[in-house]
Amino acid sequence: MNSSLARNYNRKKIAFKRGKGSYLFSTKGTRYLDFIQGIAVNSLGHANPYLVKAINKQAKKIWHVSNAFIIPEGERLAKRLTQKTFADSVIFQNSGAEATEVAIKIARKYFFSIGQKAKNRILCVRNSFHGRTLAAIFASGSKKMTEGFGPTVDGFDHFNFGDHKSLTKAITKKTAAIMLEPIMGEGGIKVVPDWCLKELRKICNKKKILLILDEVQSGIGRSGKFLSYEYAKIKPDIVPIAKGIGGGFPIGAVLMSKKVSKYMTPGTHGSTFGGNPLAMSVGNAVMDQIFKKNFLNRVQQSSKFFMKELRKIQKDHPNVIKEIRGRGLLIGIKVKVDQMNFIKKLFENKLLTIKAAENVIRILPPLNVKREEINMAVKIIKKVCKTYN
Ligand SMILES: Cc1ncc(COP(=O)(O)O)c(C=O)c1O
Repeated sequence: MNSSLARNYNRKKIAFKRGKGSYLFSTKGTRYLDFIQGIAVNSLGHANPYLVKAINKQAKKIWHVSNAFIIPEGERLAKRLTQKTFADSVIFQNSGAEATEVAIKIARKYFFSIGQKAKNRILCVRNSFHGRTLAAIFASGSKKMTEGFGPTVDGFDHFNFGDHKSLTKAITKKTAAIMLEPIMGEGGIKVVPDWCLKELRKICNKKKILLILDEVQSGIGRSGKFLSYEYAKIKPDIVPIAKGIGGGFPIGAVLMSKKVSKYMTPGTHGSTFGGNPLAMSVGNAVMDQIFKKNFLNRVQQSSKFFMKELRKIQKDHPNVIKEIRGRGLLIGIKVKVDQMNFIKKLFENKLLTIKAAENVIRILPPLNVKREEINMAVKIIKKVCKTYN
């Protein structure tokens, strides 16, 4: 096909005409079990009837007004987000990268406002992922993402995942915040242990710096908790979210404590589209579903079952599977064979999955995935493992 789209994606040669729950139907009519879900975006599956109803209802009323006015749908969503998290207030955006950018702005503005202008550097994990804007790629500390996009955006320092010595060493008088993903998504589904998050909180308190947890991929029930840091029973200062909160509609947001939010005064940040009534009504509908009684418990149960089944396969195929990683329904299979070949074989068996770093296959079913759909995926994964014997 002679496409007029830029070539910045390596697209698979398939298109879909519709989706329903965990399934996608190709333009040729083939049904696929979609365990990518737009990379953790469609938290409630495709064409979720409750979300469809909510968006239709709002579309007939009002789509967009400027943030120059009060937006009741956004007031409601922000209130609900603060009631369910550590946060005292929220800024809405349209994507994850924007949300992480705002998180950085908030941290810098805080220190500027309390008279510590020099404290403006953000300490991040090397080879992490915070989005594709200029600041976000340099925050990632990954050569692959930054090469060709110089000059370097200054203001970021890095430490290696799991290297606690290099972390403490990297904190200087200029460090404003530590920013990391509690579960590294693109980086290979690496879970930061709870004790580690607790220690990080202690270090930040001791050094009087801020803790930013990027929950763009791990948030909104994906881990089995609304936000994954809840497992560690800590309170961060700033949390960017996106993906799952819109259930497929582009929404980003930054959650923050009063300590830092009070300096985000009029004019310090803005977004034309961020927080518009259409987006906010979808966000509220997602919240309605995720906070239904037992919803998050069911995510945890689905995860437990899925992980158990995957570990059984690993035991039977130690030559193929090295490790099962993840938390909740953010699952990684680290394979010993060629990752892309494995993904291709799953695809040929009508199961959609996507790669992550470290030869990991990412599995992201919708949060309301059914047991029989997990069983179907398990069967396909088993079948593909057998082909390597
Ligand atoms: C942890 C994390 N932060 C930020 C982003 C960027 O989000 P977006 O692609 O919506 O800009 C992503 C996207 O995958 C992510 O996983």
